[in-house]
Amino acid sequence: MKTILSGIQPTGTMHLGNYFGAIQNWVKLQDEYQCFFSVVDYHAMTMPYDVKKLRTNTWEMVTNLMATGVKPEYLFIQSLVPEHTELTWILNCYCSYGQLTRMTQFKDKSQQVQEGGKDDFISVGLLGYPVLQAADILIYKADYVPVGKDQEQHLELTRDIAQRFNHQVGKEYFALPEPLFTETSKIRSTADPSKKMSKSAGEKHYISLFADEDTIRRQIKSAVTDSGNTPEGTMAEGVSNLFELIRACGNITEHDQLMEQYHAGQLKYVDLKETTANAIVALTSNFIARKKELDADKRRLKDQIKQSSSEIRKHAQQTLKEVKELVGLLNV
Ligand code: TRP
Repeated sequence: MKTILSGIQPTGTMHLGNYFGAIQNWVKLQDEYQCFFSVVDYHAMTMPYDVKKLRTNTWEMVTNLMATGVKPEYLFIQSLVPEHTELTWILNCYCSYGQLTRMTQFKDKSQQVQEGGKDDFISVGLLGYPVLQAADILIYKADYVPVGKDQEQHLELTRDIAQRFNHQVGKEYFALPEPLFTETSKIRSTADPSKKMSKSAGEKHYISLFADEDTIRRQIKSAVTDSGNTPEGTMAEGVSNLFELIRACGNITEHDQLMEQYHAGQLKYVDLKETTANAIVALTSNFIARKKELDADKRRLKDQIKQSSSEIRKHAQQTLKEVKELVGLLNV
């Protein structure tokens, strides 16, 4: 069976954009691959963050992932597998400083920090972020990494590091991981469909996956449909976003019926919104119910994740042992 690894930062809330853009795909991939899905808490330290929230956000993300159907045995917390950071150090020495400073995400994020005003501190952790990501991937010798286009450069770097490592130790040790660009739904903000749905844009710009029914209905009701400056003959972004949501929820028949009405010039936006809200509520009510169960027995959830992390850790320990041998470190 081929191996997959992916990671997600513990951001607190999970929204429809996260779910349809990544997590829904993870859940599907579980049937075909051996998967390693990581809540990457060490990565969350690379930008200014709140120390009081990191731990709760990490457990929150674990709970949310399990509630949406990620198998507990495939799920682990990055910091519970310390070999990731140990391998990062080794890989730091196989990665060039210049290449890290040229990474798009580093440039964007360091600019963001500087524009943030009060604190223009750019950590070495932010610079080294992609090396930690490379360690996440290479430590499990992953064949595929499901990522969005924004992570493509990080994956290329991972391959470069692996190649340099192989060359220097004189052995084809690391196989080069491939990105897996699966067709996922790119959900936009319902308040401003020109933006993608994201937490950083503010309250109005995302719909929590675990929001109650009233909140979801209210947010969909107030969704921007046509801002008025859509070119003739094209569908307004806000409208296509609602269609995309219906499709992503799996309500294909309703999607196609409404699309027929749209092409016949008979679509009523109230109907489109009603169908969208119904589809989301039907899907997310299952997640909410599962989350409630998980929250009711936190002890059990924590034990489960500690258990899966320690099982997964065995793979990481094996790789690290081999790597240390190859690079000339002691293995006693
Ligand atoms: N950098 C990724 C993101 O922001 C998260 C991540 C960390 C990741 N480690 C990874 C993704 C390993 C894929 C593989 O989305």
